[in-house]
Amino acid sequence: MKKKGAGGKRKPKASEAPPLFPDSPVQLAPGSISQPMAAPVWTEQKAQLIARYLRYFVFITKHGAYIDGFSAPKDPDNPNSWAAKLVLDSEPRWLRQFYLCDLPDRTLHLDALVDAQPDVPNRTIEVVPGDFNATVHRVLRSPAISGKTATFCLLDQFSTECHWQTVRSLAQHKGPGFHKIELFYFLAAGWLFRSLSGFKDSSIPEAWWGRSDWESLRGVGQDGLALRFSERFQSELGYRFVKAWPIYEREGAGGRIMFYMIHASDHPQAPVQMNRAYRNIVEPLETVEQLMFEYGQQ
Ligand SMILES: C[S@@+](CC[C@H](N)C(=O)[O-])C[C@H]1O[C@@H](n2cnc3c(N)ncnc32)[C@H](O)[C@@H]1O
Repeated sequence: MKKKGAGGKRKPKASEAPPLFPDSPVQLAPGSISQPMAAPVWTEQKAQLIARYLRYFVFITKHGAYIDGFSAPKDPDNPNSWAAKLVLDSEPRWLRQFYLCDLPDRTLHLDALVDAQPDVPNRTIEVVPGDFNATVHRVLRSPAISGKTATFCLLDQFSTECHWQTVRSLAQHKGPGFHKIELFYFLAAGWLFRSLSGFKDSSIPEAWWGRSDWESLRGVGQDGLALRFSERFQSELGYRFVKAWPIYEREGAGGRIMFYMIHASDHPQAPVQMNRAYRNIVEPLETVEQLMFEYGQQ
């Protein structure tokens, strides 16, 4: 018996139908570039974004290590813009290990910050002086950064100080089967092209980009740059979730994108929680009780 419709003339699927505009170019949407946000995060809110994200992070992990490769304050007169301080002060104080790294002539700020911290049970804070491209190996030798330790690393460079090999060492530290060290990488999209033109010694951009073809970045534009980096975090370093978060100059000062923070993680909740932190940046902090309730800790 013939089923109704089975042998008749088949209706073409939508994908087989002739295109409306056959000559138009194929559009490929960029996979990892953030779309415009309802409320952009300003440059001076970057530290709050990091601290807020890590507050959500600990409600999921209940522990964790924080590595800050370039951690002394950019603006020592404005402690509210200092990521390391805001993360250390964030409640509940569930992050256990801190590695605060910077050049030796800037660690006095870090020493003072550590001295002013209250004693928190099970918490250790280490100030690590030196070039982070070298000291990263000392930090990673710490038994505290084991496969199971939820670890977040901030790479808040000025422009091209963080070598790609350093990023790779962090990404490759944990063995298979563990979530890689989560990265939050500063990409100076707003002034990078100016910086790149100023280099007489090509070893600096080459170490930063990790390859000799860094000149191919000229002319790709800000979004293109963020996309090139995001792709490398995904395909070369193997991160499952990568997103470039745009950080803006204040509207009165032009409102343009100043830089991107590239967030790379293997944890499916990481982009969700970063999205929450980004969107809530101007909202008052949730109480610990509210977060306990929301994240099911009660
Ligand atoms: C943009 S600032 C960091 C800002 C800081 N995260 C904050 O929240 O205010 C960059 C820092 O990197 C440090 N730095 C530059 N080159 C470095 C290197 N090779 N190794 C470690 N730190 C470095 C500088 O001394 C400076 O403190």
